[in-house]
Amino acid sequence: MILSKMESLIPVYKPLINEHTFKAAHDALENGWLGMGSFVGGFEDAFSRFMNCEGRRCVAVATGTAALHLAMLLAGVGPGDEVITPSLNNIGDFQAIKAVGAEPVFCDILEENLGIDCTSAESMVSEKTRAIIGLHYDGIPCDMDGVFRLAEKHNLRVIEDDCHAIGSYINGKHAGNYGDIACFSFDAVKTITCIDGGMIIVNTEEEVNKLHQYRLIGMSQSHKKLYSNSRSWHYDVFDVGFRYHLANLHAAIGLSQLEQIEVILANRRQYCCYYSEHLRDVEGLTIPMSDFANVGPFMYYVRVHNNLRQECIQYLLERGVETGIHWRPGHQFSFFQNNRRAALPVTEMIGEELLSLPMHSIMPDETLDRVVTCLKSFFASRRAA
Ligand SMILES: Cc1ncc(COP(=O)(O)O)c(C=O)c1O
Repeated sequence: MILSKMESLIPVYKPLINEHTFKAAHDALENGWLGMGSFVGGFEDAFSRFMNCEGRRCVAVATGTAALHLAMLLAGVGPGDEVITPSLNNIGDFQAIKAVGAEPVFCDILEENLGIDCTSAESMVSEKTRAIIGLHYDGIPCDMDGVFRLAEKHNLRVIEDDCHAIGSYINGKHAGNYGDIACFSFDAVKTITCIDGGMIIVNTEEEVNKLHQYRLIGMSQSHKKLYSNSRSWHYDVFDVGFRYHLANLHAAIGLSQLEQIEVILANRRQYCCYYSEHLRDVEGLTIPMSDFANVGPFMYYVRVHNNLRQECIQYLLERGVETGIHWRPGHQFSFFQNNRRAALPVTEMIGEELLSLPMHSIMPDETLDRVVTCLKSFFASRRAA
């Protein structure tokens, strides 16, 4: 490492932990009801207000992957079915599809937003296709109009993966309010965190009731009673269920994060703009095609060309800048290598180039400057070589 004594490693992620987090955790623990209770109800209500849900309903669950799994069940996806997803997506999406006995079918993405290419997706529709996933990569809106057109034409359910997209807007509405089932993650590194947590947004009371049972090992326990920190000993079981509920401690932390979300989003947007402004003209690197005005950015990515990504990662790390790769495309994993897929030229190209730079909710100017300076000096050193 070339780190000086004064410099510390800049992590790629850094959760926002402050006095509000400690107070929230303290309050939840002092309350004494550790399972699903009043803080979960409070978190759902606050999230719904933030999202301006207008009749749509929010149900909190344990993780984003749990949200996606339950979304598949709600959408009626089952054994032998197929779900179309961009190959550039999180493993949680692929495993949620597998968990209901169905298969992910991979489609390509558009270079302009790294979101779903609906022409590629349509080429993979078969009589087994039940649903399609629209993912807003890094919160940058994908072509949801195209996804809904496709869904209508082929009678598919739409699952909107908003795990990167809290605070993003599409056509003037929060991403996640677009129409069908939407899933969010509040895992340890997300824009806001519950340490682990997830949320599903749906349209109907019937779906809400199903979700309440699915998340609580199938028990028909009244959520209102639970949200007043008590329970009933009279319940029945009508369907399959999972231990996917959110605990009070996690919800309390999520609630404290949500109270700070406007600052978190404004900061992250500003940091993305800073990166773009300073990296725009660096030869050998491409920045996102977004001004981040309508984006709640989860991260900031660049594309490193000429097969230099691994060298770049090493160079930055030696100078105390950690980076990430989101992600290796799904069709390249052993478990999914035989799954049906479209031609994936953009995914293949971009999968070799993507590099995520440090993105935190609070980043001093010196931190941003150190990242930019290191990255510029890497490309300058390559040009000189
Ligand atoms: C786009 C996307 N979908 C789904 C998930 C899964 O969420 P979780 O980690 O909360 O299970 C993630 C998590 O990183 C994600 O980024």
